[in-house]
Amino acid sequence: MLIKNIKSLLQTSSPTKALRGKSMSEMKSIENAWLLIENDIIKNFGSMDTCPDFNGETIDAIGKIVLPTWCDSHTHLVFSTSREEEFEMRLKGKSYQEIAQAGGGILNSAKKLQNTSEDDLFKSAFQRLHEVMKLGTGAIEIKSGYGLSVEGELKMLRVIKRLKEKSPIPIKANFLGAHSYPAEYKDDHQGYINLIVNEMLPQIAKEGLADYIDAFCEKVAFSVSDTEQIIKAGAKYGLKAKIHTNQFNCMGGIELCVENNALSVDHLEVVNDAEIECLKNSETIATLLPSAPFFLSDPYQPGRKLVDEGVAVALASDYNPGSSPSGNMNLVVSLACVKLKMTPEEAINAATINGAFAMELNEEYGSISKGKKANFILTKKIPSVAYIPYAFGSNLIDQVIINGKSI
Ligand code: NIG
Ligand code: FE
Repeated sequence: MLIKNIKSLLQTSSPTKALRGKSMSEMKSIENAWLLIENDIIKNFGSMDTCPDFNGETIDAIGKIVLPTWCDSHTHLVFSTSREEEFEMRLKGKSYQEIAQAGGGILNSAKKLQNTSEDDLFKSAFQRLHEVMKLGTGAIEIKSGYGLSVEGELKMLRVIKRLKEKSPIPIKANFLGAHSYPAEYKDDHQGYINLIVNEMLPQIAKEGLADYIDAFCEKVAFSVSDTEQIIKAGAKYGLKAKIHTNQFNCMGGIELCVENNALSVDHLEVVNDAEIECLKNSETIATLLPSAPFFLSDPYQPGRKLVDEGVAVALASDYNPGSSPSGNMNLVVSLACVKLKMTPEEAINAATINGAFAMELNEEYGSISKGKKANFILTKKIPSVAYIPYAFGSNLIDQVIINGKSI
C-alpha cells in the first residue's frame, strides 16, 4: 500500500533511548510525503519528489497528517463493570481516598470481578481494546490488580494472555497483585505480601503470565518498604518494575524505584525537587496520566517542569473504572498540552515513542521508521500538528492503520 501526498509525515526518527529534555520537542518529519507499506511493515518513505511508481492500493492523503499510533503504556483495561455510583458520590463531596478507605474503589472492583467469569471478562476487555484501537492506540500495557487473591489475579492475567493471542496490537501484561490490601488482610499486610511473593508470583512465572510487576505505593495502599519487597520479589523472576507512585503523597517511592532500575514510575501528580533530581539522573521513565487528575479534580502532574529538568516523560491513559474511565489517548495528549503545559510535539512524542520505550516496544513501534510495524494514524484534513491537541474532543481520525490494514 502506498500513501501519497501526505501533508506531513510525523516522527520519522528511531531513537535508541527514550527522549528527554530538548529532544522531546524535536519531531523529525517530512512535508508533502509518501509512505510505502509492505504487508505489515513500513518499507520506505520520503518526500513526494522521490515518490516511487506503484500499481497497488494507493491512498491520496492530500491535506492529511500521518503519525505513529499511540503507545498507551499504562492501563487497567480488564475489569468487571463501571463504577459511576462512586463518581456520583464524589460529585456530592466524598473524596476518592475516602471512598477507598470505606471499602469502595479498588475493593469494589475486586468484589465485582470475583463474580465475573473469565469469558465475560475477556469479552468486555476485547470490546474496550477495539474501542481504543479505533481511537488510535496501536500498542498497550494492561494490568491485573482487581483480583487480589490467587485465583482472582490468575484469572485476570489469563484474560490478558487471551487478549494477547487475539489482539492485532501488542500487549504487555503487568502483574498488580499489590494494588490494594484485601479486607481480610487489613490488619495483616505482611500476610498478603507473603501471598503475592510465595503463591501468586511462582504460578504467574510458571505460566509466563506477566511481563512486568507493579504496586500502588501510596498511603492508602502499599508503603515504600512493602513496595520494595514486591519489586525485589518480581526481579527474582525477571520482571521489571512499573510502579504507581506519587499520586497523592511524596513518600520515597520514586527513589526506591530508581534504585531498583524500574522501567517507569507512573502518576506523579505530586513530586518534589529531590525526586525530580533523582529521576533525571536515571533511565526510569516518568509516565504521566493526566486523565486521572482530570476525572478526580486533583492537581495535575508538573509535566512542563519534568521535561525542562530533563526527565524522560511518557503519557498514558490509565484506563480504569475508578480514576480514568476513558482510554482516549487523543484526550490525554490535549490535557498534556492544556494542563501540563507540554508543547504539541512533546506531548505527541511522549504518547508515541516514549510510550513505546515504557513498554520496551521501541524497536517495532512508536515512530515511522523503516522496518517498524505499519501502525499509524491518518488524520482528517487538518491545518497543522498543533491542531491535534488544540481541537480537543473532536474526532480528527480518518483511518487507523494496524499491521498495514485499515481497521
Ligand atoms: O492508576 N491508583 C491506583 N490505581 C488506579 C485506579 C484504580 C481504581 O480506582 O480502580 C489508578 O488510578
Ligand atoms: Fe493506574
